[in-house]
Amino acid sequence: MRQVTLHAADAREQAKGQKAEGGRHEPEINLRIRFASPRRRATNYCRHNHQKCARPSDGLIPKLTFPAAACFALPLAIIFRALRLFVLSFFPGLFLRTLMTSESQVAAAIDTRSIADLYQRVRARTLEIVAPLEIEDYVVQTAEFMSPPRWHIGHTSWFFETVLQKYQSGYKTYSQDFLFYFNSYYEGFGARIERSKRGTRSRPTVRETLRYRKHVDEEMSQFIGSVSERDDAETILAIVRLGLEHEMQHQELLVYDIKHLLCDQFDAPISPAPHSQENVNGMAEVEGGLFELGYAGTSAGKDAGDPPALPPQHGCRAGDPGSMRALQRAFHFAFDNEKPQHTVFLQDFLIDRAPVRNSEYLEFMKAGGYQDFRWWHSAGWEKVNQEQWQAPLYWEFHDREWMIRDFAGLHPIEDKRNEPVSHVSFLEASAYAKWAGKRLPTEAEWEKAASFSPPLGSKQDFPWGDDEPGQTKANLFENQLWTVAPVGAFSEGCSSYGCHQMIGDVWEWTTSDYSPYPGFKSEFDEYNDKWFVGQKVLRGGSFATPRAHIRSTYRNFFYPHERWMIGGFRCAKDA
Ligand SMILES: [Fe+2]
Repeated sequence: MRQVTLHAADAREQAKGQKAEGGRHEPEINLRIRFASPRRRATNYCRHNHQKCARPSDGLIPKLTFPAAACFALPLAIIFRALRLFVLSFFPGLFLRTLMTSESQVAAAIDTRSIADLYQRVRARTLEIVAPLEIEDYVVQTAEFMSPPRWHIGHTSWFFETVLQKYQSGYKTYSQDFLFYFNSYYEGFGARIERSKRGTRSRPTVRETLRYRKHVDEEMSQFIGSVSERDDAETILAIVRLGLEHEMQHQELLVYDIKHLLCDQFDAPISPAPHSQENVNGMAEVEGGLFELGYAGTSAGKDAGDPPALPPQHGCRAGDPGSMRALQRAFHFAFDNEKPQHTVFLQDFLIDRAPVRNSEYLEFMKAGGYQDFRWWHSAGWEKVNQEQWQAPLYWEFHDREWMIRDFAGLHPIEDKRNEPVSHVSFLEASAYAKWAGKRLPTEAEWEKAASFSPPLGSKQDFPWGDDEPGQTKANLFENQLWTVAPVGAFSEGCSSYGCHQMIGDVWEWTTSDYSPYPGFKSEFDEYNDKWFVGQKVLRGGSFATPRAHIRSTYRNFFYPHERWMIGGFRCAKDA
């Protein structure tokens, strides 16, 4: 599970976040760790986390001292083992079945533990993101396309409540009103409030929403702890995992929406931005030919049907931290829309080594780009006139100078010249490309430039190789910059073709329509499959994307006119 491996720095961040919130999450973490082990759960479970009632057996069964226990336990264990050996020697089929059952239970237990751990961390991260908000901020909707923060924290809990409703027998729905308010667009889950009206209600209150979230977390912790004993464990763990990926998507949406709501009024925990290490210019030449587009494998592993491939030196013992890490690395996740991997043919092409910078985009603006219909698609020209677009979103004109507002404040364009342009729509990106005598890349071109290694003759998970994204490889959410980094600041993250910052900073528009790959099979109704019309694919992630959530095959999608999300681009050209 490469994406969920947590770095020491992450752990420190988590601890810091928990501390900053007065240790609010700490009891929950302890509770979940106990749930993670079925054996410990049986003896130590207490939903209130009180040490006093943590051992239901205390006071009911006399405690045995070591010598007394040994007197009873050792002879019993010897008799049991002898009997078991006798039965299994005469019934080898039973032996095999016993072995297989025990192995699959161990594997399910390890999966349960890793999902439980991931669940706890992802859910805590969402609350860390909203922590600097004031109570009034949670309920305001500044535009139809954004959602109030309260809605995100409730909606991500609603997703897990639907899992409990379906799979946890006897689960009682928390509130019908909450189901109505926190459903997003799922027809299959009943009536829902219109998206544009999410900010028109003050109820449920923020406190009620947080209480709901806590309730779902407690129920989910118990539920995940019990899953390994069920026949449908694999299906359930896959849905829980999807729910966590869904929550990471909403974490990124929260950053977009908080920016639209508050921008530099939000007290974001900003880290200093790295400096550019080199000048990155020009275009990379990429050879054409056959290319394997998309993610190879299923959600459960790199190869369909295979269990996660563990390095031979690691055993699979539950509770062994070494094998846990190995399993996390080996257990890959991808959405259904990234599959199946299939062969496409590419012509030779050129692609920019860097995303288009603010300085370059300003040249387009100064050349009258927003006033000249020749560069625009019809839909783009219509938007320019309707919306009076003159610059990307968050650009402001003060004293005859363009300035950019971000989480850190209002900046002269001069200070941002070397940073990737962001908050542009597909329509604006296309117009710029035409003006520059280039075009946008297709998603297959983008993916080849980002992931193919000519020396290896194969694809890698990331532009730099198969290592996970780290602090020096890409500007993702954990870097905590809350903005784009200068071009050339992440040389270590360079692709084999010399392309910089393909992962992180800005999602990059491609010309490709968001449609199913040949052989696509929906893995979850209404999640990705219902959006296969009218949208464009973006690749690579942004500074608001969690590290655990990104890979070179990831297909994001938005409508061509949208620009409140962190969208930028690089250009391509026929060779
Ligand atoms: Fe959602």
